Amino acid sequence: MRKALKILGIILGAIVVIVLLGAATINFSGIPSYDTNPPDLKVEPDSALIAEGKRLATLVCNHCHMGTSGKLDGKHMNDIPPEFGKVWSANITQAANSKLAPYSDGELAFFLRTGIKRDGKYAPPWMPKFPHMSDEDLHSIIAYLRSDARELQPSDKIQPAPEPSFLVKLLCRVAFRPLPYPEASVEAPPITDKVAYGRYLLTSKVECYSCHSADFKTVNIMEPEKSEGYLGGGNTLISPEDGKTEIYSANITMDKETGIGNWTEEDFIKAVRFGQRPDGKPLRQPMSPFSALSDQEVSSIWTYLQTVPPIKNEVQRNWEY
Ligand code: HEC
Ligand code: HEC
Repeated sequence: MRKALKILGIILGAIVVIVLLGAATINFSGIPSYDTNPPDLKVEPDSALIAEGKRLATLVCNHCHMGTSGKLDGKHMNDIPPEFGKVWSANITQAANSKLAPYSDGELAFFLRTGIKRDGKYAPPWMPKFPHMSDEDLHSIIAYLRSDARELQPSDKIQPAPEPSFLVKLLCRVAFRPLPYPEASVEAPPITDKVAYGRYLLTSKVECYSCHSADFKTVNIMEPEKSEGYLGGGNTLISPEDGKTEIYSANITMDKETGIGNWTEEDFIKAVRFGQRPDGKPLRQPMSPFSALSDQEVSSIWTYLQTVPPIKNEVQRNWEY
């Protein structure tokens, strides 16, 4: 009996040592690196492409990359949940020392789709990935980043490198993996197919679903509908105003009691474009009004939402804040 206990003790001890060694290895080696295989791409900019890229960047890039200078030279991201670590977004202006400067068009497309930077390092979930964005939309962003827009004029500000928490380092080994670069060209569905186009906007172009599902840790980028609690809300976000108050994402499924099943299409457009709820309450950051979306685009999202299975999930709204 005593011998058996002793052996059990040795085995348990060995397991503890292995776990500690594994944890130490993950902690010291940090975020993993991968091979890069950027496409041979040269975006031919024209004024329409640049204009669409600028509009798209205000919808999906600038709220994270806009610094206090009014240029896209990065900032401390105080609305990242502290469990993920301390994070600064990168300077992506046209300064020679910016993070964007060394990127070719192909490397940028590869990074934005897969999450693998040009040096091979993987960008943790605080920098979104766009595997399903159409080639045309992706090219518009690249064309815009090369344009002479005022917010892209050189700024030599250098932002500190992010300090990922142990949790992020661990999840980057087991859950958050680079996404495959598409093998064929990616096209958006036609605007006239409102359900498909609304889905495209919500899952692939503007990515409403990642904030609006249950948790960033269980978002499924390749198959968005498989994200836990898809569009049922409750994801914990932090108010960028004070960097600490928790604001939970709303349930935007058509459940009549806990979602937006009693709203009209007009109510929805007003909330999404101008941040006004039907009861008059203003929506708070980090839900920024998407005023650059057209009524027609928001109407497609509304049409698509009618096809999403409703989820009963009462989200604590914290209105007193
Ligand atoms: C939710 C916030 C967020 C959004 C939205 C976002 N970024 Fe980022 N981005 C970051 C953060 C944070 C980093 C720093 C990542 C790191 O070093 O791990 C970063 C890094 C980068 C880099 C530097 C990569 C490198 O090699 O270091 C580029 C380029 C970039 N982003 C471009 C974009 C573009 C283009 C868009 C819009 C399509 C965008 N980002 C949207 C947060 C964001
Ligand atoms: C950065 C995360 C984030 C993104 C991206 C985002 N939302 Fe939100 N959204 C929120 C949060 C948080 C709230 C709750 C705000 C509050 O309680 O004041 C919210 C609230 C809403 C509401 C109000 C619902 C209600 O019951 O009050 C609607 C509608 C909505 N979002 C739709 C969208 C759509 C459509 C998109 C994409 C175009 C989108 N959201 C993108 C975080 C986000």
